[in-house]
Amino acid sequence: MSRDVWSAVDRYFEERLAATDPVLEDVLRACDQAGLPPHAVSPMQGRLLALLAGLLGARRILEIGTLGGYSAIWLARALPADGRLVTLESDPAHARVARANFVRAGVEDRVELLEGEALASLPKLADAEGPPFDLVFIDADKARNLDYFRWALALADVGSAIVVDNVVRGGEVVDGDSRDPGVLGVRRLADWLASQSASEVTVLQTVGVKGYDGLLIARVVEADPARPAAASPPTAPTPEEPGA
Ligand code: SAH
Ligand code: DHB
Ligand code: MG
Repeated sequence: MSRDVWSAVDRYFEERLAATDPVLEDVLRACDQAGLPPHAVSPMQGRLLALLAGLLGARRILEIGTLGGYSAIWLARALPADGRLVTLESDPAHARVARANFVRAGVEDRVELLEGEALASLPKLADAEGPPFDLVFIDADKARNLDYFRWALALADVGSAIVVDNVVRGGEVVDGDSRDPGVLGVRRLADWLASQSASEVTVLQTVGVKGYDGLLIARVVEADPARPAAASPPTAPTPEEPGA
């Protein structure tokens, strides 16, 4: 089974499932013309992110790693009118392209792009003590996956989802001798996940136009102690037992 077949199957379903439109195509063209690397999620993966946001009824979404804003637009479109996407990007050139693309897609009122190192923006988001994020999409420098995942737990709530892109990397993830910073970043996250109970996690291997890779999908099941408000939800009144 070759990459050509994987791509043909992606294209077959993209055409039938309305997974792309002229705006999204313009967005990708603008990324390409600006010389951005072709690292945006595929249309089918964008649709998956949007479906997850919809299933969660997400009102607040956090993305780490904007690039030209392609995945951000999928996520922003899945928000209700008063919903909010915060997306973090360290490269000013990428941020500039993304801002223009948000206007192109008409989602600029729902999207807040925080320019700068994600590890500098994340503590500020925590300090702002806004409502928790219902969905966090981690897709930046893979070496810091574990840091980002722990921040995601701190900024999310029980029932929120955390998605991490590119965790299979052509199968390289199982190479214990790899020195690739991306592979090491995924393995460090996986080792940490083995020792925690705050989230339930699966990894879905994927093939398609992006080659062979995978998505890690987590559901937060325990309140993070770093988020005291979420740790003590109001307790429901105990119903009186008749005849007790
Ligand atoms: N989510 C995008 C693709 C992101 S590519 C999409 O699917 O459309 C990864 C992005 O993360 C790049 O734009 C890169 O500049 C950014 N990035 C890398 N390291 C970062 C860091 N430390 N802080 C913030 N952004 C970072
Ligand atoms: C790379 C990064 C991505 O986020 C992606 O989806 C594909 C490739 C990369 O750094 O090679
Ligand atoms: Mg990615």
